[in-house]
Amino acid sequence: MARPSAAPAQVGGAWLDGLGRPLRDLRISVTDRCNFRCSYCMPKEVFDKDYRFLPQGQLLSFEEMARVARILVAHGVQKIRLTGGEPLLRKNLERLVEMLAALRTPEGRPVDLTLTTNGSLLARKARSLRDAGLQRVTVSLDAMDDTIFRRMNDVDFPVADVLEGIAAAEAAGLGPIKVNMVVKRGTNDQEALPMARHFREHHGGRVVLRFIEFMDVGATNGWRMAEVVPSAELRDRIAAIYPLHALSPAQVGETAERWGYDDGHGEVGFISSVTQAFCGDCNRLRLSTEGQLYLCLFAGQGHDLRSLLRDPAGLDDAAIADSVGALWQVRRDRYSELRARLPTEPGQAPRKRVEMSYIGG
Ligand code: GTP
Ligand code: 5AD
Ligand code: SF4
Ligand code: SF4
Repeated sequence: MARPSAAPAQVGGAWLDGLGRPLRDLRISVTDRCNFRCSYCMPKEVFDKDYRFLPQGQLLSFEEMARVARILVAHGVQKIRLTGGEPLLRKNLERLVEMLAALRTPEGRPVDLTLTTNGSLLARKARSLRDAGLQRVTVSLDAMDDTIFRRMNDVDFPVADVLEGIAAAEAAGLGPIKVNMVVKRGTNDQEALPMARHFREHHGGRVVLRFIEFMDVGATNGWRMAEVVPSAELRDRIAAIYPLHALSPAQVGETAERWGYDDGHGEVGFISSVTQAFCGDCNRLRLSTEGQLYLCLFAGQGHDLRSLLRDPAGLDDAAIADSVGALWQVRRDRYSELRARLPTEPGQAPRKRVEMSYIGG
């Protein structure tokens, strides 16, 4: 990445990209490791004992991550999500949470600070994360049926322990809690209704379940269109048992379409990046654990921010901001929109693409 010659386009202090989209959402991956091996994300055959995860020395420090966050919050970022791999595997994560919770937008507001987790360590960590200033969590859970879930995480992890993590998060005040379920036809689509039923009937309808279409992200998960259950189909199945009505978006650029249960038992969301791409107002920037910036979840390449952060000349915050702003200004990514126009099956040799476990959800 190089220093720009002109100041980037701005609106109200926020940078606009090449398609007029402001930067609002920063996702920081704090580790590329995970204790699960979900087949749609880290298939065991690829992420085996010989897989080379990032060495410790290459990871950004918490201070470096917080510095990037601070600079970007001054330029429009309003939401920060910590992801992984599994972020709770990174030691002393509470220290980073504390630093991020102290940030203020130019209007003086704290950022919306959240974390995506598989829930396995949440029962142990919920309280300390909340005490450090985390506001909310999103927990991944793909089935209520224990056999199906153990098979999907491929490390024999039980549903009950994830539910315990969700309960601990609720007790600690880490809400509103969202639960993300990736749906694969023939693998867990029959679990959609039991999942909907469970989260309607528990937690007072306050936990928001979201169904995610299985995506062709990365290059290792063997994606096939035949395994995608279009959200429209899933919504019909749910609504046949629990009638639904459309809700308006809570925020611009939201990934999920929101639907409320007619009987008032809360809401569900549908994330349809395959059948109904939402690139049009994508405001997300991703920072990898080793300091690469990614402008799109489907990008083949990142932009090296770490070398700027560690530049021997000691670049100041303004210089770092100018570089990221210049990058954002020329961003024209809209992969999911473009893929919808491609044939439904990927070619024999998938093009180089970042893995979701490396860059986060
Ligand atoms: P909230 O602020 O809690 O609504 O979070 P979010 O929906 O913005 O983020 P989350 O990480 O929970 O996203 C849920 C899922 O949507 C991810 O796991 C991905 O499968 C998908 N997703 C998130 N962001 C993108 C994106 O930019 N592009 C695509 N194609 N999919 C995305
Ligand atoms: N398709 C859709 N979502 C995925 N995730 C990981 N891989 C995929 C995929 N292939 C998302 C899930 C999970 C989060 C960590 O990443 O939402 O909950
Ligand atoms: Fe781990 Fe989440 Fe990927 Fe599953 S989806 S392997 S829990 S990072
Ligand atoms: Fe944003 Fe890329 Fe996802 Fe489209 S495919 S919503 S541009 S990250």
